[in-house]
Amino acid sequence: MSDDSNHSYDTRNYKLRSNAWLARQDRDGFARRSWMKNQGRVDHLFDGRPVIGICNTWSEFTPCNGHFRQIAEYVKRGVYEMGGFPLEFPVMSLSEILLRPTAMLYRNLASMDVEESIRGQPMDGVILLTGCDKTTPALVMGAASCDLPTLVVSGGPMLNGRFRGELVGSGTHTWIFTERLKTGEMTMDDLAQAEAAMSRSSGHCMTMGTASTMASMVEALGIALPTNAAIPGVDARRYALAHMAGRRIVEMVKEDLRISKVLTKQAFENAIMVNGAIGGSTNAVVHLLAMAGRTGVDLTLDDWDRLGRDMPCLVNLMPSGKYLMEEFYYAGGIPAVISEIKHKLHLDALTVTGKTIGENNKDAKNFSTDVIFPYSAPFKPEGGIAVLRGNLAPGGAVLKPSAADPNLMKHRGRAVVFESIEDYDARIDDPNLDIDETCIMVLKGCGPKGYPGFAEVGNFALPAKILKKGIKDMIRISDARMSGTAYGTTILHTAPEAAAGGPIALVQNGDMIEVDVPNRRLHLDVSDAELETRKAAWKAPAPHSDRGYYKLYTDHVLQADKGADLDFLVGKSGAHVTRESH
Ligand code: FES
Repeated sequence: MSDDSNHSYDTRNYKLRSNAWLARQDRDGFARRSWMKNQGRVDHLFDGRPVIGICNTWSEFTPCNGHFRQIAEYVKRGVYEMGGFPLEFPVMSLSEILLRPTAMLYRNLASMDVEESIRGQPMDGVILLTGCDKTTPALVMGAASCDLPTLVVSGGPMLNGRFRGELVGSGTHTWIFTERLKTGEMTMDDLAQAEAAMSRSSGHCMTMGTASTMASMVEALGIALPTNAAIPGVDARRYALAHMAGRRIVEMVKEDLRISKVLTKQAFENAIMVNGAIGGSTNAVVHLLAMAGRTGVDLTLDDWDRLGRDMPCLVNLMPSGKYLMEEFYYAGGIPAVISEIKHKLHLDALTVTGKTIGENNKDAKNFSTDVIFPYSAPFKPEGGIAVLRGNLAPGGAVLKPSAADPNLMKHRGRAVVFESIEDYDARIDDPNLDIDETCIMVLKGCGPKGYPGFAEVGNFALPAKILKKGIKDMIRISDARMSGTAYGTTILHTAPEAAAGGPIALVQNGDMIEVDVPNRRLHLDVSDAELETRKAAWKAPAPHSDRGYYKLYTDHVLQADKGADLDFLVGKSGAHVTRESH
């Protein structure tokens, strides 16, 4: 036993923090070891070796993470091989597809669970098992506030969906099929058959949606092993990667390679550039802002615009392109993308391997320039996220040019306003709705406080009468987010949101709105005096609940441009505990 004479309560007084629980030769040490031996643990596991927590978001309510108990077993193999002691623990699992009113409402709650589960339990390093959209940022945010050695293992994307000869992408084809239903090209029977064809293996959405984007982001940030993002969830190499992560986290504990040493400003800048190159989800904006907030890195919306402005989109994946994550993996995945844009990146940024991102990827190759286009001849000229500002969005709003119609990048149109998602649902297909394709649709009440939880409804569908004309896109402005699997000329995350009294709350039917993406401008063409009059008459909506987590969330959530974290969670307080569990 190490630390056998140390009876201090304070975890800082031990060589490894887990020793404060498990390696002590006293009553408390006896009790912990005794209870843990009811799982068949042998004596030498308590000899002071590093304890590795495996933070698992497995849940049958989160199908994208349904294979995580097997992945955890492979992590354990690696930990044992390197002389560590792995212990798996559950945290709140966030299912994008099942949680109501939206999984994003609970991202911050899950991050609190993760933070306190790590801090309160005897572990020296942690593996984060993440998959479905919000599970990645939630776990990274919580772990970053503890600042132990931390390594992310993503669950990997599903295999390609295929239906009647067509490549079918998670989410993306949900929108495509729904439009076909509206236009009569598909029936409900067709849809029923497409369900199993779209989701045919373990894994998360296999488009470049939010899950794949966030798996790419953790690889680009350097907190996951190279190739983490793209290996399919059922590919044997996913399990081999988990095994190697288990080996590496034990070394990271010995090297004291904490997550704060990896999550630097340079790392975030690399991730933003990679996000542009992969045509990643707009959700990465709020998640990276929130993650940076936990680590004390000064990251802003302007960094997103600055770093993405001249970054082309290289990756030909749905929703911006035609392929899926399987082809992306075979083409070389994130290492190949990093290789294509290496002249733009901070190649000396440290990663969890103990090497720099440049060293990790120096031998990477691009095996298909139809899937990963070369930087010199990109798939689309604009890959980054455009940040628009103006009297309609003083705190900023975002748009993904690679998923938008180039012909709508400069447009002036008449506002057609929906006060809430229920108002939209009730009126969008009303034949008498006064709308044509030159109008700009505005949706309110879907931001962090308003929904509550910042819903993914920013790609709200066009009216059937316009779709039937063969028109597929119109400008839409909202304080909502958009699914990473979605597409369209959608201006999102408008801040401040309507429920917080932002100018979007004051837009009325018939107002003229100017959108100028090249000049990053979003202007409501209404006089200041008129806006003042409207503001004076505006009443804040009643809160959705006056108790519980809803209340905590709506009282404390920050606006989109600050990452929508809870104000009191920003920052970190480390992993030490000074009191015994009396
Ligand atoms: Fe889980 Fe898309 S629903 S990743």
